[in-house]
Amino acid sequence: MLYHIEIWGCQMNEHDAEILGGLIEREGYVRTDDPSRADLICLYTCCVREKAEAKVLGRIGQLRREKKERPGLILAVGGCMTQQKQVARYISTHFKGVDIIFGTHNLHRFGEMLSQVRQDNRALLEVWDNEGAEIAENLPAARSGTIKGYVNIIYGCNNFCSYCIVPYVRGRERSREPDEIEAEVRDLLDKGYQEIMLLGQNVNSYGRGLSREITFGGLLRRLDRLGTYRLRYMTSHPRDFNEELLEAIRESPNVCRQFHLPLQSGSTRILKEMRRGYTQESYLALIRRIYELFPEASLSTDIIVGFPGETEEDFEETLEVVEKARFDQAFTFLYSPREGTPAAEMEDQVPEEVKADRFARLLDLQNRISLSKNQAMTGQVYEVLVEGPSRSNGSVMAGRTEGNKVVNFPGPEELTGQLVPVEITEAKTWSLYGRIRGGKA
Ligand code: SAH
Ligand code: SF4
Ligand code: F3S
Repeated sequence: MLYHIEIWGCQMNEHDAEILGGLIEREGYVRTDDPSRADLICLYTCCVREKAEAKVLGRIGQLRREKKERPGLILAVGGCMTQQKQVARYISTHFKGVDIIFGTHNLHRFGEMLSQVRQDNRALLEVWDNEGAEIAENLPAARSGTIKGYVNIIYGCNNFCSYCIVPYVRGRERSREPDEIEAEVRDLLDKGYQEIMLLGQNVNSYGRGLSREITFGGLLRRLDRLGTYRLRYMTSHPRDFNEELLEAIRESPNVCRQFHLPLQSGSTRILKEMRRGYTQESYLALIRRIYELFPEASLSTDIIVGFPGETEEDFEETLEVVEKARFDQAFTFLYSPREGTPAAEMEDQVPEEVKADRFARLLDLQNRISLSKNQAMTGQVYEVLVEGPSRSNGSVMAGRTEGNKVVNFPGPEELTGQLVPVEITEAKTWSLYGRIRGGKA
């Protein structure tokens, strides 16, 4: 029997889907990339913006039609979107044919749910409240790669930024025990993984509530000792990025000098409305400090355009911060009202055409900065961790620099999983091209 998983959303979901795959394989299924051959199709969903939800509903509709021709097909929908009880109910009443609906807190129960549905031949809706959600350890994971491995360190979020639905669907902050994390990282390194990505909605909060005192910086120091590899983390909150953490990074050579610090807005007034807990000035001071300590740092950010009440002046402040911070990359989003969040209730929602215009201006500025930062890399040699043949052009290899930038270069496939020195020969806005140095080609 074959199974197929489709994933929306962030790295947290990508890793959840690896665990989902592990649980399904334990029930005797084998993975396929081809949904038309699958006996079980799972959609693992995101609800951070309306667009993500609309895409999932479209896909469910499509699969239901397919199911009419293949009645034995089992359809499951889970994750953040269906963690919202009203959405789970909506899908179960309007989309007959979906066999299993589950949330984020009962992912570890998927194996049982699946065998129950196969036995009873009746649809199942099971969404848990966050209350009392314990961290399930020792779950199997069908990892999607052999070079980069995801490791959860903290679940949930307590920040309640006023626009964001994540705390409602991922629950309160829960840190994993450092021993469990270390054991998982060790295991991956033993298996030959070269890069570890630590995951959490706000990794800087790591350690709160654990019986033994440990901070995120302390965890990085501890993991840094485990070998020679690339250690990354996602996502950190600018408010909590303190000197102790910077010091820990400085003393941990395995930790990549790559900083993803979601700005969201450059206007202190809007930041306050967003409940972000920092100001334009404190954000810029942090960026300056990072460049001071790590002149080679690569910086990225997330920005929301058109938060309720955002004026032209507020938006121009965002452009100014972007100019000053000189991010290597920015993920930009149109504000999307989410039911149940305070910002969705705010009165002065920004008209769609104004949002679209600001979005285009921001993108234009950021593209120019990204290109100029990439151009500054030409002629220099970078260590590239080779991930395999390029997805867009199979005749070249693709890999990433420590700063997480993609580099394409001609070379043999056997280099996959190795670190090679590559000289950058050409820079574009989104990618770099190069050639191997030192006669390895
Ligand atoms: N925990 C992370 C990521 C949260 S979701 C963090 O705090 O940064 C990823 C990004 O989606 C956010 O950084 C934000 O830029 C964007 N986002 C969240 N809610 C949104 C909304 N309602 N509309 C538009 N973008 C949103
Ligand atoms: Fe959402 Fe804010 Fe938590 Fe990030 S820190 S997940 S943006 S509430
Ligand atoms: Fe989306 Fe859930 Fe991640 S809402 S962004 S998949 S935590």
